Amino acid sequence: MTRTVDGVAEVPFTVPAIVEERVDRGSIAVLRLRRTDASPWPSWAPGDHVEIETGCGVRQYSLCGAADDPHWTIAVLREPEGRGGSDWLHHHALPGAELMVRGPRTTFPFGTAPEYLFVAGGIGITAIAPMVAQAERDGVPWRLIYSARERGAHLFRERYAVDPRVVLWASESRGRLDLADHLTGLGDEVAVYGCGPTAMLDELHRVAAVRHGLKLRTERFAGVATRDHDRTFSLELARSGRTIRVPAGISALDAASTAGVFIVSSCRSGYCGSCEVAVLSGVVDHRDSILDAAERAENSCMFPCVSRAVGDKVVIDL
Ligand code: FES
Repeated sequence: MTRTVDGVAEVPFTVPAIVEERVDRGSIAVLRLRRTDASPWPSWAPGDHVEIETGCGVRQYSLCGAADDPHWTIAVLREPEGRGGSDWLHHHALPGAELMVRGPRTTFPFGTAPEYLFVAGGIGITAIAPMVAQAERDGVPWRLIYSARERGAHLFRERYAVDPRVVLWASESRGRLDLADHLTGLGDEVAVYGCGPTAMLDELHRVAAVRHGLKLRTERFAGVATRDHDRTFSLELARSGRTIRVPAGISALDAASTAGVFIVSSCRSGYCGSCEVAVLSGVVDHRDSILDAAERAENSCMFPCVSRAVGDKVVIDL
């Protein structure tokens, strides 16, 4: 999703940017980027991310700088066991380096509410921090629960450490964070926004499922593409009349690609929205982090990079 705002043209596809500043915080590199031609970036909103070309493919990073900063700021967690993109950036995104950048894109929209509870795990704070700042600017009551592995590993801790509305949780010394404790008793007026690792967000959704009326919106770093109990299902393409077999352990996107059917994709993890396809019939096992509960129940679209069929078949409009 791109746009034109305040007279500033949307970023045309991919543009070159310079790493103006880099600050390393342990395994996280915080990068401030400016466009090489010095023209302004388009405006962005809390929850937006940008796409960066790396030597290992395109990767998405939440914009996490100050709203009035003319630069774009991202934070890159180095994941040695990852797919290589963060490693590549840690090696190449030195001050003065040029990167190809696209965006911003909105897949985690921040809505207005009378009150907020923010839940962040690890690098997930990069999506949540601009929301906290927006709530603060708007004078809306908020609280933040921010879990990191070690004490002192919290990004932006200088901002949050002295704020009584913030719980900085260090799981290594304090054990697992019990989210149910924090969500029990929340009023219906409180909107909950969460971003973090899969286990944390799964628990948030579990709590939300038994807490009727809870307004929860989450963004994951990675969708759940395959699970142990997955079964083979058929992906039927209504327009071409083709049927593609999707075995357990293979995403529908990959099965389609193997069968010669190209579906646009980017994150391949269920959070960027690029691979969205319309669903005509069949119930979808939604595993993305884009749709909310009502949108999932609508069953009108799916993200085949992670989502599968509940039954034997899903028919899509392709
Ligand atoms: S490729 Fe990003 S949601 Fe599927």
